[in-house]
Amino acid sequence: MSVSMDTLVSLCKRRGFVFQSSEIYGGTGSCWDYGPLGVELKSNIKRLWWRDFVQLRRDMVGLDASILMHPAVWKASGHVDHFTDPMVDCRECKRRFRADHVDAMPWVHYCAATKGNKFTMPAGEPCGHCGERRTLCPGCGKGELTAPRQFNLMFKTFMGPVEEEASVTYLRPETAQAMFVNFENVLQSMRLKLPFGIAQMGRSFRNEITPGNFIFRSREFEQMEIEYFVNPHDTVDGRPADEYWHDRWIDECMAWFQRYGMRAENLQLREHDKAELAHYAKRTVDIEYRFPIGWNELMGIANRTDFDLKQHAKFSGKSLTYFDEERKEHIVPYVVEPAAGVDRALLAFLADAYREEEVRGEKRVVLRFHPEIAPVKVAVLPLLKKREEIVRTCHAIRDELARHWTAVYDDTAAIGRLYRRQDEVGTPWCVTVDVQTVGDRDKGEQGDERATVRDRDSMEQIRVPIPELVSVVRELLAGAPWSSMAGRFGTAPTTPAQSA
Ligand code: GAP
Repeated sequence: MSVSMDTLVSLCKRRGFVFQSSEIYGGTGSCWDYGPLGVELKSNIKRLWWRDFVQLRRDMVGLDASILMHPAVWKASGHVDHFTDPMVDCRECKRRFRADHVDAMPWVHYCAATKGNKFTMPAGEPCGHCGERRTLCPGCGKGELTAPRQFNLMFKTFMGPVEEEASVTYLRPETAQAMFVNFENVLQSMRLKLPFGIAQMGRSFRNEITPGNFIFRSREFEQMEIEYFVNPHDTVDGRPADEYWHDRWIDECMAWFQRYGMRAENLQLREHDKAELAHYAKRTVDIEYRFPIGWNELMGIANRTDFDLKQHAKFSGKSLTYFDEERKEHIVPYVVEPAAGVDRALLAFLADAYREEEVRGEKRVVLRFHPEIAPVKVAVLPLLKKREEIVRTCHAIRDELARHWTAVYDDTAAIGRLYRRQDEVGTPWCVTVDVQTVGDRDKGEQGDERATVRDRDSMEQIRVPIPELVSVVRELLAGAPWSSMAGRFGTAPTTPAQSA
């Protein structure tokens, strides 16, 4: 079952993943705030990407450059002259649209054949009554659209105390350029040999004409980009090195999304055709995801050749080359660029994890996140919040688990409802403390000092000695199957009070 965008937006707000920016003032156009669980989810995506693509590799290093750069960077990169979208304005309602998007929008139509009745027609379809196709503004249905004009997507600002032309600079529209500009610094300081890559994560800003679809296209977003430099004279397996590494990166990125649970049937590759290729690219392949709005770009992997280093060398007057020891010559490396959006990845992970299931005649919403992606790893829940020892034990367990992972305590509802809440935010395991754990001093009964661990996906429960909880969660997170734990500790019968 595929989930609708409305369902995701509402879950994200209800459960503290994503809020509309400045909501109490009516919201800011296409900017979003990540709430308590969104922050954790996003930081997990970034942490895993950094770990897998930078820290675990021998050929990668990181960079964290400033957002404001010298304005000449954007002249050299082509952004001042070419980072534009064609836009059209409605002469009546003054709304602005991307010229290449208007035909893909539902359109408002006042139909002459039905005494001017107003209809909203599906994108690209003619009116069923009068047969007309859209010619006017799709938003108001009344105004003529202007001829397309180029609109630069960079946010302009001023550096320093004087607002004058000479101090104009831009909020970066991509993280990539800082890696080209710092090529020489990184190369020399780290004594690197080709092929090697520089990675950077961080905010980018684009004054998109038609942002929308929740966090899919916003004006402020985060990117995770890699510039992987190769020697264009080298060959690998009989192929030019840039072409070989381009394919390698496509495979590695595809595998990364699947490693963290994205289903293969929701991912596909799309080759850019010649007409669509950016002016700097030899070849570009997008990884597309089946979003609630349909197949769309999750990330792009481009072969940018030596365009960027040559441009920055030309504009800065500095040499941005690499000395090829074997051939005894200075060369300008080619670059392969895997460029991903953090927010888009987060949306894809959310959509992919979303399930509605029926459990004992009731609907359960569950986010089946990969445990490493899940914002909260363990929730510790008291079966009876009036029993002080139970609550105290829960807090002690949570505090111990929180030293290693995100762990929460919740006692604000009955256990069944608490489990549902944790299912809905994708917490892989819940730990429950009950009377059996702590015993009953009044009756002289000793507790067994075991807590119940409940698995989100199977809803099975096991009883684990409290001192072993950390190692059990560690093993599960490292990939041990739940069945191995069930085998070791035996599944616990579910009492009605603990019912999943
Ligand atoms: N340096 C190359 C570059 O920036 P891009 O295709 O424009 O390439 C890379 O952007 C990725 O950044 C996209 O695949 C997408 O995931 C993300 N992205 C781009 N624009 C975005 C926006 N307005 N909102 C959210 N994510 C965006």
